[in-house]
Amino acid sequence: MEKFCRRKILKLTALSGLVTILGKNGFAQLLSLTPTPGETQGPFYPLHEQRDKDADLTHFDGHGTSALGPRILVRGQVLDTAGNRIAGALLDIWQADANGRYRHRSDRNPARLDPNFQGWAMMSSDHNGYFEFKTVMPGAYPADKDWIRPPHIHFKISKQGYRALTTQMYFPDEALNGTDLLLRNKSIAERAAMIAKKLESEGKVPIYGYNVVLELLRN
Ligand SMILES: [Fe+2]
Repeated sequence: MEKFCRRKILKLTALSGLVTILGKNGFAQLLSLTPTPGETQGPFYPLHEQRDKDADLTHFDGHGTSALGPRILVRGQVLDTAGNRIAGALLDIWQADANGRYRHRSDRNPARLDPNFQGWAMMSSDHNGYFEFKTVMPGAYPADKDWIRPPHIHFKISKQGYRALTTQMYFPDEALNGTDLLLRNKSIAERAAMIAKKLESEGKVPIYGYNVVLELLRN
């Protein structure tokens, strides 16, 4: 017990020493979160308005059959760099179907388009900054003759007063992450922020955790 207390006092002393050296602002900066790295929007942002853009991409309104492919849940929180939750952020999400096809006229991938996959969703973070959506694991697809894009989900996140973010979320343990021409241009820290974490499943559906950090706009 005594040992524990001494260790705790030592830790607190070291901490207050650090605050003195760095100053209050410097210390806050040390603890601050790094904004989520941006990435190109890519060529497949949806072209045509669709009514059904809800948080379940596995069912597309008006289609009797659900989407092909393994289901996943993506769950996260929108935060600012100080770690404060951001409520009411707009998340605009689009991705390829399980075959690696986008519903987009520029997509030249010969894989079959899944007509029952919603492909596009829009939602707002809740009062605690949380969001969640159900989808299928996106397929990898050829971007070029020597470049296969790893499974990923495109995001645009915006909220008044914050720098709007366009980025791509990747999946852990994907061999193609290592050869992706976009992802391999990122630093190790940036890659870590862009690759979702596999969370404990609550049933059969795997859950991926992906937090987004937005930067406050300064006037
Ligand atoms: Fe893409």
